[in-house]
Amino acid sequence: MKNSSFFSKKTIKTNNNNTNKKIMKPSKAATAVLQTEHKGSLISSTSEWNALKEHVKDIEKTHLRDLLKDYNRCENLTLEHDGVYVDYARQRATEETMEKLYALARASGVKEKINAMFSGEAMNSTENRAVLHVATRAPRSKVINVDGSNVVPDVHDVLDKIKDFSDRVRNGEWVGHTGLPLTDVVCVGIGGSFLGPLFVHTALKTNQSHAADAQGRNLRFLANVDPVDVARALNGLNPETTLVVVVSKTFTTAETMLNARTVRQWIIAALGKEAVSKHMVAVSTNLKLVSEFGIDPKNAFAFWDWVGGRYSVCSAVGMLPLALQYGFDTCEQFLKGAWSMDEHFATAEFEKNLPVTLGLISTWNVSFLGCDARAILPYCQALAKLAPHIQQVAMESNGKGVTIDGTPVDYPTGEIDFGEPGTNGQHSFYQLIHQGRVIPCDFIGVIKSQQSVYLKGEIVSNHDELMCNFFAQADALAVGKTPVELRAENCPDTLIPHKTFTGNRPSLSIMLPELNAYTTGQLLSLYEHRVAVQGFVWGLNSFDQWGVELGKVLATRVRATMHDKRNEGKMLDSSDGYNHSTERMLNRYLQGKAQLKYDTPSDVFPCDLINSEECRPPSSYA
Ligand code: F6P
Repeated sequence: MKNSSFFSKKTIKTNNNNTNKKIMKPSKAATAVLQTEHKGSLISSTSEWNALKEHVKDIEKTHLRDLLKDYNRCENLTLEHDGVYVDYARQRATEETMEKLYALARASGVKEKINAMFSGEAMNSTENRAVLHVATRAPRSKVINVDGSNVVPDVHDVLDKIKDFSDRVRNGEWVGHTGLPLTDVVCVGIGGSFLGPLFVHTALKTNQSHAADAQGRNLRFLANVDPVDVARALNGLNPETTLVVVVSKTFTTAETMLNARTVRQWIIAALGKEAVSKHMVAVSTNLKLVSEFGIDPKNAFAFWDWVGGRYSVCSAVGMLPLALQYGFDTCEQFLKGAWSMDEHFATAEFEKNLPVTLGLISTWNVSFLGCDARAILPYCQALAKLAPHIQQVAMESNGKGVTIDGTPVDYPTGEIDFGEPGTNGQHSFYQLIHQGRVIPCDFIGVIKSQQSVYLKGEIVSNHDELMCNFFAQADALAVGKTPVELRAENCPDTLIPHKTFTGNRPSLSIMLPELNAYTTGQLLSLYEHRVAVQGFVWGLNSFDQWGVELGKVLATRVRATMHDKRNEGKMLDSSDGYNHSTERMLNRYLQGKAQLKYDTPSDVFPCDLINSEECRPPSSYA
């Protein structure tokens, strides 16, 4: 993988700003012009891609209702690794499809790219960085070099520091400014510095053994810069017993830094400036800015630029909060689970490789069968935050319009991820996936629930009931219901079109023995690598995120304008350079704000802006 001169450091920004619209929805003409200007080879020009395109015609002649009658196919389209069982017999694919997809993976250099990733090559070429989140869960004995030096000892130094610190906080050796133990932790961070840790915390907090380790402790997250989120995160907390972990890879993210300053003020107002060193710690790659913020660098937990934000759960980003809540042993289990899947990904042949196979299936659905979205449907309430996390992992990674060398793609990339735990989703959006759009679904279930409930007199347990839906929904989507079947049930003719289910709607089913730290780590790694495989086939750089920049730049401009106009007591006019729509909306907002009065502590928190001794978050938000 060579870094093309097209992406010289200087041109990245210009290119990013100028072509952003084209990236979102490139017109055919614009794509053609760019392709001629910059000739890169697309995977879509290979014989392997074209063979799959041709093969779509064969698949269109099939129906899952019939494919599922094939015993051998049902046997063959399953995979298992270390207890993780995947059944993809409900994909619109045959053994022949899979062969062609594995051939496509070979043609796209997936194996070479996996090797490049694990050997620390700077494959994120637009940022000149290695892609080594796998090193954050590598065992101590492993050697992974970046620029000639082994990074695994650095990883374990930080893990050791996390163990030491979290043990001291948990056993009451490290106390707050007034001598009280720190039982409550608030993590301030957004995006990758929030979603992954929240996903894992949600997965573990109802596991009885992990819950026992967390007894008497609270873990909360503050992500949104909406002040309501500050109120919600701090509601009912006592600054004397609260430890704040500021999590930011860059330590420049506007939302996180304002939230961190707000919470710092909450601590200072209650306990004084000296309390900050005992009550605030940081996780970042930017230790200089951590220190400038006022956090003692001794209380900072490092990670490295070769860990992408959305791939950072296994670094201190996730491990520090989770060690504080559940103890370090739980983190070790989680890391072991992730590493088990990592090793499998790196070594298993494609035909037996779970992330490779799932990545190829998603590519098939998106690029050949024209499915734009994917639903992530855990039949496990504790996985409620899997879909929001995978939304960032997948959509920030593969929502790209150009390949790694800058060539505009002529095929769709990425997919629109969404999801809800079953059975809740069934009573919300399943109507659309059964009779409206075709949306490939991931059903995820566990064999042993975190909670057993079995009522006397019921024919199944509560968890069985949940899982009955897991099995039934996948078949309802695949098999459907025909007019002939409806007539046999004496369905009135007028209702037959409404009650017909066309079926033939793809899904795959993932079953775990149970949900604990180890299997959560496996699941995380499975999804991360699956996303990487899709990006490898599409030829993308799945590890940068230039598409988030433009909005940030424009917000900076609006921030300055808002401040200036308010200070000058003026409204915007056409000379300010905004379009008329934005100018009108900003003026309406400024006028409305000017009429507001703040005169009670709960109106403005912390209380810098009002004359009040009291400083507390509003108590009305749970
Ligand atoms: O949304 C853009 C992004 O850069 C994400 O990739 C990242 O996870 C998030 O912002 C937070 O960044 P940081 O950890 O630097 O605060």
